[in-house]
Amino acid sequence: MLISPSLELLSIFGVVLLTVITAPIVSRSLKFHAIPTLGSTTWLGSYWSAIKNLGGVAEIVQEGYDKYKDIPFKIPTLYNWIVVVSGNKLLEEVRRAPDEQLSAFEADNDALKFSFTIGHKVALDPYHFAIIKTNINRHLTNLFPSIDNEIALALTEVFGSEDSKWRGVVAIDAVRKVISRASNRALFGLPLCRNPGWLELCLQVPSDVMASVAMLDLFPRFIWPVVAKFVSSTSRNTRRGIEYIGPIIRERQKHGAVRLQDRTPTDTPNDFLQWLIDNGTETSEWEITQRILMMVFASHATSSSFVPVLYNLAAHPEYLQPLREEVNSVVHQDGWTKAAIDKMHMIDSFLKESHRLGGTNSLVGLRKVLKDFTFSDSRVVPRGCIIAVPLSAVHHDKEIYSSSNTFDPFRFSRLRIDENDSRQQLVSLSSDFLTFGHGKHACPGRFFATLIQKTLLAHIVSLYDLKLEDNASSTMKSFESGIFMAPDPTTRILMRRIL
Ligand code: HEM
Repeated sequence: MLISPSLELLSIFGVVLLTVITAPIVSRSLKFHAIPTLGSTTWLGSYWSAIKNLGGVAEIVQEGYDKYKDIPFKIPTLYNWIVVVSGNKLLEEVRRAPDEQLSAFEADNDALKFSFTIGHKVALDPYHFAIIKTNINRHLTNLFPSIDNEIALALTEVFGSEDSKWRGVVAIDAVRKVISRASNRALFGLPLCRNPGWLELCLQVPSDVMASVAMLDLFPRFIWPVVAKFVSSTSRNTRRGIEYIGPIIRERQKHGAVRLQDRTPTDTPNDFLQWLIDNGTETSEWEITQRILMMVFASHATSSSFVPVLYNLAAHPEYLQPLREEVNSVVHQDGWTKAAIDKMHMIDSFLKESHRLGGTNSLVGLRKVLKDFTFSDSRVVPRGCIIAVPLSAVHHDKEIYSSSNTFDPFRFSRLRIDENDSRQQLVSLSSDFLTFGHGKHACPGRFFATLIQKTLLAHIVSLYDLKLEDNASSTMKSFESGIFMAPDPTTRILMRRIL
């Protein structure tokens, strides 16, 4: 068949045009394929892996880390890919990317679906981050007496005050009660922090959020609004929250208006709720309550990550004495002050080692790719994927930590003394210690959370003996769901008041 010259020219033009248009897509796709995949690379195979990953990714992430370590690798989730990166060089490349390209906020919203689990406005505008960074962190010394006082009171109520009598406690329940009281006291003040109904809600919200996340994860994003109507407790929890916090919001708003009019100095509370009201971005009880519930959710990590600390103390009672000596000597000098807590290097090290081995999640530092991201070796992560760091695999790496699987509670305080290195403290960020994430979006609440955990541990070692129940394993069990981990809720320990 003869083709007219004009048609031939048109076909050549068409092929060239198609090549020009598709070449970047093909090349981009090849560059994404250059990132090794854990498990099957076929469509059906990776779908099956994604279903298995719903139950937990720790094992597959460890496998990828052992195989690839300093190069990125990817694992499938039902509707997405997670590209896992580790090592200072790769993390630095991720850290340098602007938020418009790699977004921590969008990644957290994807993982925790805040629009459907806490509230739409919370998921749209994270203005409370700035309040944490500036106000909370700046006021830690002022907040300390309330935190310390509430911990001392709550400890006696929850762990008991009778001398010489061993008491069994369910670790997570006991820890959550004490830490919730202390966080609430610092963030929202008295008397709310002791209201049993409000405290019950504070314990309920994190479980409700995680249950809704697990359900929503089974469905594609476009039907989340419908599914959420059946599985999410957001509205119910907000209404319950307003019952407790609504009158306080109204009272403080009224007080604020009078304050502005009179221009007289008043005894205005100095806590997160007040900073939120003064900020004025949100004024309705509904919105402020959801913002508060977001803080309640964020603070939950302070409790869940303390359970391994308590467990390690009970599993290794031989460390109680050196810890006690440190606390007694520092408190003897400085009293129960923030300055004293800052000097407790062994307490800090014990916590950090427990975080290193306990691990809150298998992957942290999530970043959603909003514009294709290219590593320096030309591998491309396309828009829509998530980039994350393998917390547990890094924390167990033998090349980073000697005897990496052994609980060595004073490894960080030794380094701090031997090498005069203050970067060994719990709040310090590095590519080798990822409990609080990395880079500019690392946890801004870590100074607050660490202050609470150090104060609690210092009080516990000075007031209690601890041990495990007979036949208990020396390592604590935890449960996994996707990238998230939680301590076994049935974990029990024995405590005995000594003072
Ligand atoms: C021991 C307790 C805590 C742990 C282990 C923890 C851990 C983390 C981690 C891993 C991240 C992600 C960092 C990243 O993406 O690089 C994060 C982010 C965040 N955390 Fe925490 N956190 C804790 C306590 C808190 C508390 C008490 C608050 C609030 C007062 C808080 C507020 C936040 C906020 C607002 C972010 C998002 C930061 C951003 O995207 O810029 N966290 N946290």
